[in-house]
Amino acid sequence: MGAAAALLLVAMAVAAVAGASAQLFDEYYDGTCPDVHRIVRRVLKRAHQDDPRIFASLTRLHFHDCFVQGCDASILLDNSTSIVSEKFAAPNNNSARGYPVVDAIKAALEEACPGVVSCADILAIAAKISVELSGGPRWRVPLGRRDGTTANLTGAEDKLPSPRDNLTTLRQKFADVGLDVTDLVALSGAHTFGRVQCQFVTDRLYNFSGTGRPDPTLDAGYRALLAKSCPRRGGNSSALNDLDPTTPDTFDKNYFANIEEKKPPRGLSRVEILRLIEEE
Ligand code: HEM
Ligand SMILES: *[C@@H]1O[C@H](CO)[C@@H](O)[C@H](O)[C@H]1NC(C)=O
Ligand SMILES: *[C@@H]1O[C@H](CO)[C@@H](O)[C@H](O)[C@H]1NC(C)=O
Ligand SMILES: *[C@@H]1O[C@H](CO)[C@@H](O)[C@H](O)[C@H]1NC(C)=O
Ligand SMILES: *[C@@H]1O[C@H](CO)[C@@H](O)[C@H](O)[C@H]1NC(C)=O
Ligand SMILES: *[C@@H]1O[C@H](CO)[C@@H](O)[C@H](O)[C@H]1NC(C)=O
Ligand SMILES: *[C@@H]1O[C@H](CO)[C@@H](O)[C@H](O)[C@H]1NC(C)=O
Repeated sequence: MGAAAALLLVAMAVAAVAGASAQLFDEYYDGTCPDVHRIVRRVLKRAHQDDPRIFASLTRLHFHDCFVQGCDASILLDNSTSIVSEKFAAPNNNSARGYPVVDAIKAALEEACPGVVSCADILAIAAKISVELSGGPRWRVPLGRRDGTTANLTGAEDKLPSPRDNLTTLRQKFADVGLDVTDLVALSGAHTFGRVQCQFVTDRLYNFSGTGRPDPTLDAGYRALLAKSCPRRGGNSSALNDLDPTTPDTFDKNYFANIEEKKPPRGLSRVEILRLIEEE
């Protein structure tokens, strides 16, 4: 399934820029910055030595960029007189990460080919290489995205999926950027690496959908393990848990295997996925 998720990452990137007039193509920087992939890869490998989570974080950053105004790097813009930064929108604040590594990539590229590679393309390339370096599949990244000069904090609040969204809302948010239910399920497979804070896990452990009970689709042993890290009261709501308890930093198909084994700390449940498949 890894390959499907990867192809759909491309679908996501392409769908989210549909509407932009210029055409994207793989060789976009061949004449102006032929080493772009090599340079991004070098900075990523270095960053990974200090931070095994960085590949997951950069993959998510690309997704959080693309869902708001398309893949235009708007997520990177800081507050200014004319910009209200998306970085502080609920889905991003104290959650989206990897910005300093994007800055390091940009700096390295500015040295090699000043003023050429867009930040939106950097995010797309970084996500691709991150998945590849995590053992996932490879895909081609058409290039030539233009950076936006505006951000939309309300857009980030409204458009990005929330862990509290029901299926209807999730479907709608994906449909808004041209993605269907197959894309929603496959892209959720990206939760095969990276971390999740206790604040997004505790409802499943203690009060699922306001029932006052644990999520019935959660394996009891696994629930006990998560409860150690995320106690009902007095715990650290920012404490981190592996999204994939089996191979936490590898991009594989374990997100789906975990769902079969009732071990999804976050994301769609098995019941939800089966319902989606039935609907198709
Ligand atoms: C389907 C709707 C989705 C929801 C509700 C959702 C929700 C979340 C939540 C709550 C977290 C944990 C954030 C935190 O603890 O600070 C997370 C992490 C993550 N998400 Fe999603 N997500 C969704 C879709 C996606 C998609 C489409 C991708 C990429 C293709 C993705 C990639 C990731 C990754 C890689 C992480 C770990 C990031 C890290 O460790 O820094 N997610 N997601
Ligand atoms: C940026 O602006 C937003 C909205 O006004 C605000 O909530 C946030 O604290 C600001 N961040 C910084 C670092 O100034
Ligand atoms: C973002 O997080 C900081 C804590 O790091 C908090 O003080 C601030 O209020 C949050 N901003 C928004 C807009 O929620
Ligand atoms: C920001 O996003 C919201 C959708 O949440 C939209 O209604 C609004 O028009 C957008 N603002 C701009 C300036 O594009
Ligand atoms: C899903 O959530 C939306 C927004 O909160 C709500 O309007 C809608 O009724 C919910 N749909 C279902 C089927 O629960
Ligand atoms: C569970 O959640 C519901 C609604 O989200 C809330 O009304 C209720 O008080 C919570 N129960 C417990 C035991 O925390
Ligand atoms: C809570 O967990 C976060 C993430 O691991 C950590 O950075 C922070 O220091 C912890 N806070 C406390 C009070 O232990």
